Amino acid sequence: MTLVEPDRTAPHSAVRVAAVGDIHLGEGCAGLLRPAFETLPDCADLLLLAGDLTRHGSVAEAEVVAGEVASLGVPVVAVLGNHDHHADEPDDVARVLRDAGVHVLEGDSVVLPVDGHKVGVAGVKGFCGGFVGRSAGEFGEPEMKAFVRTTRHSAERLAGALAELTEHGCAVRIALTHFSPVPDTLAGEPPEIYPFLGSYLLAEAIDAHGADLAVHGHAHLGTEHGMTAGGVRVRNVAQPVIDHAFALYRLPLDGHRPGASTASATPSDSVPLPDRYAHH
Ligand SMILES: [Fe+2]
Ligand SMILES: [Fe+2]
Repeated sequence: MTLVEPDRTAPHSAVRVAAVGDIHLGEGCAGLLRPAFETLPDCADLLLLAGDLTRHGSVAEAEVVAGEVASLGVPVVAVLGNHDHHADEPDDVARVLRDAGVHVLEGDSVVLPVDGHKVGVAGVKGFCGGFVGRSAGEFGEPEMKAFVRTTRHSAERLAGALAELTEHGCAVRIALTHFSPVPDTLAGEPPEIYPFLGSYLLAEAIDAHGADLAVHGHAHLGTEHGMTAGGVRVRNVAQPVIDHAFALYRLPLDGHRPGASTASATPSDSVPLPDRYAHH
């Protein structure tokens, strides 16, 4: 866990969370999102990147992403997506992003100061497997068991990271994944591929430890709003879904005690995409 000591300045009534996933930047995309991201200090306290930041997971593409988010004036927290693994060099992709100041999470957490409050983000890429009643089981061939075990281990790492946030008494706790924890935010995707878009095990980890907001990407044809069985608000921030450079959510701090899960996540305005993104 990375812990940054909070500075004590005028208190906010809410944490302003900007989030986007699936920006899928290629080598010709430098500068595409930078103008929108440079507005973040005026409207947000942090930026979450929900994976699939590159097209094929190359270092060259990661360097484009790094250029879009370096020195923005707000903390940037990211998880990688499946596309960021495609070139089999996710550690190099993460290193390039970390060199640009991004907190890249994979089964760990970061606590950020927001006007005297501790805002915690627990992150993991997550994996597939499906949802209750329609999920893969850890049974049979070694390949099948390994597939489902990958998801289970990912959910266990998310649970551990969320537990860290509780131990640190964070006023706001956010779960950041690439794959979805719930089927709600997949609405619009073909039902046949739901098992490849997320896993209920991620939601079980979130509900077991509590969170004020869960953010994911991956489901480009999905829906923004959802909720876990335990009542945690889920937001699919895949860029094709939110159709903006980023979405903004306000997590109220008033009367919020560490460990409670009473904050609400309400979408507010967000910054439109630059015109040329439509042709990307
Ligand atoms: Fe994607
Ligand atoms: Fe993805």
